[in-house]
Amino acid sequence: MNVLDVRDLSVEIPTETGHVLAVDGLSYSVGESEILAIVGESGCGKSVGVLSLLGLGPEHARVTGEVNYAGQNLLTRKPDALRRVRGQDIAYIFQDPMTALNPLMPVGKQVEEVLAQHASMSRAERRARVVELFELVGIPAAAERARAYPHQLSGGMRQRVMISMAIACGPRVLIADEPTTALDVTVQAAILEILKDLRDKLGMAIVLITHDMGVVADIADRVVVMYAGRAIEEGGIEQVFRRPAHPYTRGLLSAVPVPGQRAARARLRGIPGTVPVIAESVDACTFADRCGRADEACRSGRPPLAEAAGGTRVACRHPETKESNGE
Ligand SMILES: Nc1ncnc2c1ncn2[C@@H]1O[C@H](COP(=O)(O)OP(=O)(O)OP(=O)(O)O)[C@@H](O)[C@H]1O
Ligand code: SF4
Ligand SMILES: [Mg+2]
Repeated sequence: MNVLDVRDLSVEIPTETGHVLAVDGLSYSVGESEILAIVGESGCGKSVGVLSLLGLGPEHARVTGEVNYAGQNLLTRKPDALRRVRGQDIAYIFQDPMTALNPLMPVGKQVEEVLAQHASMSRAERRARVVELFELVGIPAAAERARAYPHQLSGGMRQRVMISMAIACGPRVLIADEPTTALDVTVQAAILEILKDLRDKLGMAIVLITHDMGVVADIADRVVVMYAGRAIEEGGIEQVFRRPAHPYTRGLLSAVPVPGQRAARARLRGIPGTVPVIAESVDACTFADRCGRADEACRSGRPPLAEAAGGTRVACRHPETKESNGE
């Protein structure tokens, strides 16, 4: 069953030099206990896309479409109602925990404050719960660490504190925007393990944004590949890694990591050119200027997402059919 269902989401941001269409008709859904990765180069609209689900996108942005959660369209909810959903039902973790933590307050107290806002617990219960949460995310000597200030903790420990804060009220969906990019590889692996563990233990659905295909291979069940605000390919992790049908996905996977193996950590690279910044929806493939296969058909009409031979859904007029290892 889907927990979160995003339909035709568009986000238009007014800027001094005109509009930016950061998200252009994006649709995807996340099932219960599923880890969905959203991947794409810088500027593809990954962050704006997830922030806009709960009214956290850029100021004055025009957000259209539907974000269906628990039988309601979140885009039509008032800010107060959205604040309640945030934290209690859908929680966020961001890349840099320092910006989200108060430097002047012990970390345990900060998690207690979240509990006080959303759950009816006594002070003693909140304290005990903080220790429980810290243990759950692998913070050793949890009671002692709860009294530490953010600067007294390592980056990895701070990110664990952020995760414990995000899951404090037992959300059904956790949205993690590049949660490990600032961390070194070993700590990154530990944090990814924690996320997987939380999914297994608490049945949470996780939407993980990353530009690291190695992370996708390690952790995700399904992946949505974004380009210029659109989903250009989506599918199960096995299918997308084995037979990516979109030339862009192929480019991203030019050093293909095998799902489940950590050896090849491929970054998005090797595709000449950059993601275009779009002012309004164009009726063509937005990847055409970077694609060796582009022809007239690609430039006349937006390619719809359709089933590809390898089991993914792809928005491309001339999808690839070979297995990626065969190249
Ligand atoms: N506050 C803003 N004002 C104007 N334009 C913005 C704003 N925030 C984002 N954009 C633009 O929207 C587009 C999508 O940005 P977004 O931050 O979602 O990209 P991203 O895929 O998350 O990239 P990254 O991997 O670098 O985090 C970009 O063209 C960006 O410049
Ligand atoms: S639609 Fe055409 S230009 Fe776009 S990715 Fe497919 S082949 Fe390339
Ligand atoms: Mg981002």
